[in-house]
Amino acid sequence: MNENQDTKIFPQNFFWGASTASHQVEGGNHNQWTVWELENATELAKTAAHKYPMASRSFTLSQLPIWHTHRDIIQDPNNYVSGNGVEHYKNYKEDFSLLTSLNMNAFRFGVEWSRLEPEEGKWNEEALAHYKQYISELRKRQIEPFINLWHFTIPVWFAEKGGFEKSANLKYWDRYIAKITEELLGEISYVITINEPNVYASFGYLIGEHPPGEQDPIKFVRVFWNLTRAHRRAYKIIKSIYPNIQVGMAAQMANIQAKRPHNMLDGMITKWMRYFWNWWFLRRTRKQQDFIGFNYYHTDYYRFEHAIKPENPKVPLNDLGWYLEPEGIYPLLLRIWSHYKRPIFITENGLADTDDKYRRWWIEETIVAMERAISEGVDLRGYFHWSLLDNFEWAYGWWPKFGLVEVDRKNGMKRTIRPSAKWFADRIKQL
Ligand code: BGC
Repeated sequence: MNENQDTKIFPQNFFWGASTASHQVEGGNHNQWTVWELENATELAKTAAHKYPMASRSFTLSQLPIWHTHRDIIQDPNNYVSGNGVEHYKNYKEDFSLLTSLNMNAFRFGVEWSRLEPEEGKWNEEALAHYKQYISELRKRQIEPFINLWHFTIPVWFAEKGGFEKSANLKYWDRYIAKITEELLGEISYVITINEPNVYASFGYLIGEHPPGEQDPIKFVRVFWNLTRAHRRAYKIIKSIYPNIQVGMAAQMANIQAKRPHNMLDGMITKWMRYFWNWWFLRRTRKQQDFIGFNYYHTDYYRFEHAIKPENPKVPLNDLGWYLEPEGIYPLLLRIWSHYKRPIFITENGLADTDDKYRRWWIEETIVAMERAISEGVDLRGYFHWSLLDNFEWAYGWWPKFGLVEVDRKNGMKRTIRPSAKWFADRIKQL
């Protein structure tokens, strides 16, 4: 080992990558989200001005700077329809070349259940062949595939049966997992079963901003609980066929802090929020997590009187009004490590930033935070930026821009690497 390597903080086999999700990029999907989008696009456009972004909850969209430059697209119903996505299903090889030019050695992507099993029990051979080819193209380029089996979207037939609201429906999930394992996991070393069960359950069944748009605490608990079972069952099925595959999930975690650190009541609500949002799911599935995968976007400060509405500093904010504290990932990494002592992957991390104003700073600060955590002994193995491409941001639609690579949907889906991404690519080479 030369002197240079000796002083390196990131391990040599560290995974540097980007993350995507099938429904947000592929195009041409038909699932419960596409149905919901078409039913709700007009209403979403009409009510957008008065919407409170969840992660800030103190500004409406029309009070944010982005409103002045983006109001037309935000109030256009077409913004809320995923449609042909960014045609990643068709153009994935070009997108893999982007990964290579960004010096990345890993990629997290999703497979789309509704495409693979469009009708109950009927498998789509074309889609299976597509994903097989997809994985082998990544391997050919020496990019480690991190496959994500489920990211918010379900087939319409499964939704009609009640989706994850009913534990009896888990048999369909088991069949999907078994089929995917047999067909697609032969060349895979890392599997993410489920993305952000807390977001899926709370936005779909408590807040009602995602399909099925319900506000029903009982259903919320049922879905959250059934997803813990879905993860455990998927783990068992995958391990019974491929015992060496490393299986985990992508947990949504916030760095939750007390607004007044010496106030007992703020301390109480902080502890409760941490437990409910960050640890509830993991605690119930800890024996089925070979690694801890987590997504980090925000730090939230809680004051007892405001209950679960955070009181965050006013700046800096991303385009969606989310308060930006990139270094908040450091305490989170330490807490995860001290709770679980397992390898850790940052499976998503990023920001909506059309003008690419904060992205480089965000990544720079995140790298410093990761270095500090590794120096403290945290076994951090990889970082995946959200996202490789501008994509369909669920109930916000197309206007928020999370991509390292800009996509011009009006101009033949033209991809342009953003300046921050060029900087990041150079930085990866030095680390
Ligand atoms: C989700 C992504 C989403 C991102 C930005 C995460 O909650 O996994 O699908 O696009 O955050 O909001």
